[in-house]
Amino acid sequence: MKKPQLGQTPRVLFDEEAIRRRVDELARQISADYAGKGEVLLVGVLRGAFLFLADLCRRLTIPSRVDFIAVSSYGDKTVSSGTVRLLLDLRGDIRGRHVLIVEDIVDTGSTLAYLHHMLGLRDPASLKTCTLLHKAKADAKGTPVDYIGFEIEDDWVVGYGLDYADLYRTLPYIGVLQVNG
Ligand code: IMP
Ligand code: MG
Repeated sequence: MKKPQLGQTPRVLFDEEAIRRRVDELARQISADYAGKGEVLLVGVLRGAFLFLADLCRRLTIPSRVDFIAVSSYGDKTVSSGTVRLLLDLRGDIRGRHVLIVEDIVDTGSTLAYLHHMLGLRDPASLKTCTLLHKAKADAKGTPVDYIGFEIEDDWVVGYGLDYADLYRTLPYIGVLQVNG
C-alpha cells in the first residue's frame, strides 16, 4: 500500500451512530455466548483497541475484567513488517480464565496469530478473538476470528482508536485515508 498524505480529512466510512449500533450488537452476542460461564477477561490490544474496548465492555451484561497487552509491527508505516514484538505483557495470570482478545483491526493477521498462540500457551479456560474491523484480504493464519464488527476493503483506516503515524486516533468516527500516487 502506498503512503497516505498527512493533513487530509479522512472520508467517513462508519460514523458514530453506525459504530454504536454495531458495538451494541456485538456486546449482545458476546453476552449471550458467555452467559452462565462466569467471568470473561477482556484483553485489549494497545493502543488501537482502547476506544472499542471501552465502549464494548460497558455494554456487556456478563461479569468482566479488563487487562491490556501491547504489540508493535508497523512503526510509522502502513505495511506490516510481519514481525510482531511484545511491548507490554498482561498484568495478571490467565490460567483457567475465559479470555477474549479485543483488537481494533485484523489486516495481515500476524498480530492476532501471534497473540492467540502466545496466550493459548498459558492455559486459559477458553480463548476467543474479537475485532472491530476485518480487512477482506486478511488471512489470520488459521487463527479463528470469533467476532467481527465490520468487513472492510484494503484501505488504510483511522479514527476511533486507529492511527496513521500516531495521528487521527481520537476522531470519533472511522474514516479512510486517501492514498496518492
Ligand atoms: P496485522 O498484524 O497485519 O493484522 O495488523 C494488525 C495491527 O496493525 C492492528 O492491530 C492495527 O493496530 C494495525 N493496522 C492494520 N491495518 C490498519 C489500518 O488500516 N489502520 C490503522 N491501523 C492498522
Ligand atoms: Mg491493533
